[in-house]
Amino acid sequence: MKGIILAGGSGTRLYPTTVAVNKHFLPIYNKPMIYYPLSVLMLIGLRDILLISNPEDIDCCKKCLSDGSGIGIRISYRVQERPEGLAHGLIVAEDFVGDDSVGLILGDNIFFGHGLFDILVEAKMDIDRSGGAYVFGYYVHDPERYGIIEVDESGRVLSLTEKPSHPNSNWAGVGLYFYDNDCIGIAKNLLPSPRGEIEITSLNQEYLKAGKLKTKLLGRGFAWFDAGTHDSFLEAGEFVAAIEKRTGLMLGCIEEIAYRKGWIGREQLLRLAIPLEKTDYGRYLKALAEE
Ligand code: DAU
Repeated sequence: MKGIILAGGSGTRLYPTTVAVNKHFLPIYNKPMIYYPLSVLMLIGLRDILLISNPEDIDCCKKCLSDGSGIGIRISYRVQERPEGLAHGLIVAEDFVGDDSVGLILGDNIFFGHGLFDILVEAKMDIDRSGGAYVFGYYVHDPERYGIIEVDESGRVLSLTEKPSHPNSNWAGVGLYFYDNDCIGIAKNLLPSPRGEIEITSLNQEYLKAGKLKTKLLGRGFAWFDAGTHDSFLEAGEFVAAIEKRTGLMLGCIEEIAYRKGWIGREQLLRLAIPLEKTDYGRYLKALAEE
């Protein structure tokens, strides 16, 4: 499975903070937003990752993450000329994906929770074994803001609706999706929605129609933020700060993940830490290398 991070879009809901800066590089507490979705892909074992962004922001992406070799992964970049929708990102990624399956994550989504990655790895293995697609639901009080998943008592998906004004479920579809290789062909055949986007929900509806859509509902022990509005951005930052201060352990620290996964050694971790030595982040990495 290959990983894709969507870091384009217009960020209008965060105006005026995003007039000059792509939102994915705004800080969620002490690191750029983009670190958090990247860390999710790394934690489920994906090392070949594509980052998609707008023409004007792609250099900023490269400056922030380079080619990934410093943390034992491979990061490639593609431009999405206009924000034509989340499923359009898959079309942009076609040559990168090749014959593989896909783990797609939205660049403004932040996840946390013990056991979350076991659930995700199981779903990823299921896709690689038997194909289809996975969506993940999270119970929210404001479902009209999201793509909604209606499920029956056995957890089977009944319907999917993008930002309905009268939601029939409180289960929001989080911004993480696993697909078999058919997703590219299906995305290419989708028509834009009334708002002019090739919607991820339309893609998922096709998998549902074909009887190939699976879901897992994430329970109360997990935290999920879509940091695309001022309030959710602030809440995500406060959440990360609270956990990090309480435990002394960082969330979304990509160098730490690479080190703990064995993708880089102690020497390389130190090499990454030394230029940052005067910062809390650098001291954290150094202490980790010296543990
Ligand atoms: O966060 C979960 C929700 O994300 C889902 O519940 C919805 O079903 C899904 O449509 C999406 O809704 P949003 O309204 O939050 O999507 P947004 O336009 O904010 O874009 C999500 C991310 O994808 C954001 O990081 C920007 C990026 N993006 C967006 C578009 C439209 C792109 O890279 N390219 C695009 O064309």
